[in-house]
Amino acid sequence: MASDKDITSDKKLRSYDWFGKSDKMGFVHRSWLRNQGYPDDYFTGRPVIGICNTWSELTPCNGHLRDFAEIVKRGVVEAGGFPLEFPVTSLGETIMRPTTMLFRNLAAMDTEETIRANPLDGVVLLTGCDKTTPSTLMGACSVDLPTIVVPGGPMLSGRYKGECVGSGSFNWLHKEKQKVENYSDAEIHEMEIGAARSQGHCMTMGTASTMACMVEALGLTLPGAAAIPAVDSRKKVMAQLSGRRIVEMVREDLKLSRILTRQAFENAIVVNAAVGGSTNFIIHLLAIAGRLGVELSLEEFDAIGSKIPLLLNLKPSGKYLMEDFYYAGGLPVVLKEMRQYLHNEAITVNGRSIGENNAEINCYNSDVIAPVQEPLQQEAGIAVLKGNLCEDGAIIKPSAATPALMKHRGRAVVFETIEDYHQRIDDPDLDVDETCVLVLKGVGPRGYPGMPEVGNVDLPEKILRKGIRDMVRISDGRMSGTAAGTVVLHVSPESAVGGTLAIVQNGDMIELDVEKRRLHLDISDEELQRRKAAWIPPAPMATRGYVKLYIDHVQQAHLGADLDVLQGGSGSEVTRDLH
Ligand code: FES
Ligand code: MG
Repeated sequence: MASDKDITSDKKLRSYDWFGKSDKMGFVHRSWLRNQGYPDDYFTGRPVIGICNTWSELTPCNGHLRDFAEIVKRGVVEAGGFPLEFPVTSLGETIMRPTTMLFRNLAAMDTEETIRANPLDGVVLLTGCDKTTPSTLMGACSVDLPTIVVPGGPMLSGRYKGECVGSGSFNWLHKEKQKVENYSDAEIHEMEIGAARSQGHCMTMGTASTMACMVEALGLTLPGAAAIPAVDSRKKVMAQLSGRRIVEMVREDLKLSRILTRQAFENAIVVNAAVGGSTNFIIHLLAIAGRLGVELSLEEFDAIGSKIPLLLNLKPSGKYLMEDFYYAGGLPVVLKEMRQYLHNEAITVNGRSIGENNAEINCYNSDVIAPVQEPLQQEAGIAVLKGNLCEDGAIIKPSAATPALMKHRGRAVVFETIEDYHQRIDDPDLDVDETCVLVLKGVGPRGYPGMPEVGNVDLPEKILRKGIRDMVRISDGRMSGTAAGTVVLHVSPESAVGGTLAIVQNGDMIELDVEKRRLHLDISDEELQRRKAAWIPPAPMATRGYVKLYIDHVQQAHLGADLDVLQGGSGSEVTRDLH
């Protein structure tokens, strides 16, 4: 046992409150931990670093993070810290039902409470698959300790028949390939393996890659971390260096709230537009801002982001994959190219500004990352629509849409639920043609519940057979970041709470005008009021458990779909001891 003098060597550390005391509770806190074999000096003034691990075999994209935690620990020990790894709820995009989004706030709650309740001075978030980044970050923000993110990295590029296959993008072509191009079962089977050929998350600019870019743009990773493939040795080096750095961050008291300023959020919006990131970015960034009390509104994603040039030529809208992005120089190239649009003085986890970090980088392939003077598109980003059909807003990603459909007036073909859609969409007698607008209700936060990624519903088979690949689709749901199309999403308020979407009927005319940012249901105000008065809310989808809690407290999409009781933070203080 160390002497009292040793034990009290760093009273500034939060963990001192647990380990530094020579009373009964100090004994209890240290004694049981010692069963894992820690020497005396681990309890004497070493910053205690929590390694928050979203590893799970049920989250294939994060399957390698168990090994990664060991590498992070190596870095923590090297810098004089005391690493303690802990698991949190992990959300596997491709497996969990009905949707991981239903559990994002649960995972955030788990992360928050685990960090606060334990003797941690700093935190490393090990993330990967879509929701594992925003959930853990939301939780960490509500505690506000020094925190660094280690994104797990994308898979190597998918390959099939010599062609580049983006994981998460091929599946959207599944119906088309099977039913129209007559792919055999054997071909589909081969594709299944070829699309996911290494550890890591989806390697398109889907939501996981978007989230990795988001945390790097926010200043929460070491420079260049986002694009390194999961299996690249440099990813391991990044993990080790992050372990070293978090110990220094504790000593510098470089907390999340010092990095996540309003400027950092604006930077993230600019970068998301430049990389053609997922629409899910909006909902997650709003929720993260809400945890820190940083003012951010849905409209600002349009105001700040929609005039930003698109630099990155990645699927789903472009040609390449994350591996190519890394070889071309990765996010630092984008950050350097975009410096005229960024707050370059925003501070990052390494203590330097984002401008300083990325000043020296070179682009090695301008077909993958275009220079800002010759962008792939002059204006990318996300458009926020308003109108009587979405009083609190809706969004569309113009870079993923068909230009000819961006101004469109069409007849509504309405599906009341996702089951209704599945039952009727391929019915040869369905009264639909390519000028119609497919309207899907009941897929919002409360309605589904959990706001799944179903907004990019497949077109009717008979329309696909005509060679048509896109139609206007409108819903209160989300769209996978790996998907594309003229898809209006996140309609708020959602149909389940009586938004106008709830009262759209077959045959109503709908007007979409992206340039004017307008989404309009063409019925009279009197008719709209009459239908709303007659509307009967659907029965709640759950009467107990977490889902009941979620339904009762989830906010609408334009606010980030966090639980109302989880907004803001409670800091890191715990006033009462366990005895
Ligand atoms: Fe995990 Fe795509 S399924 S990132
Ligand atoms: Mg996804």
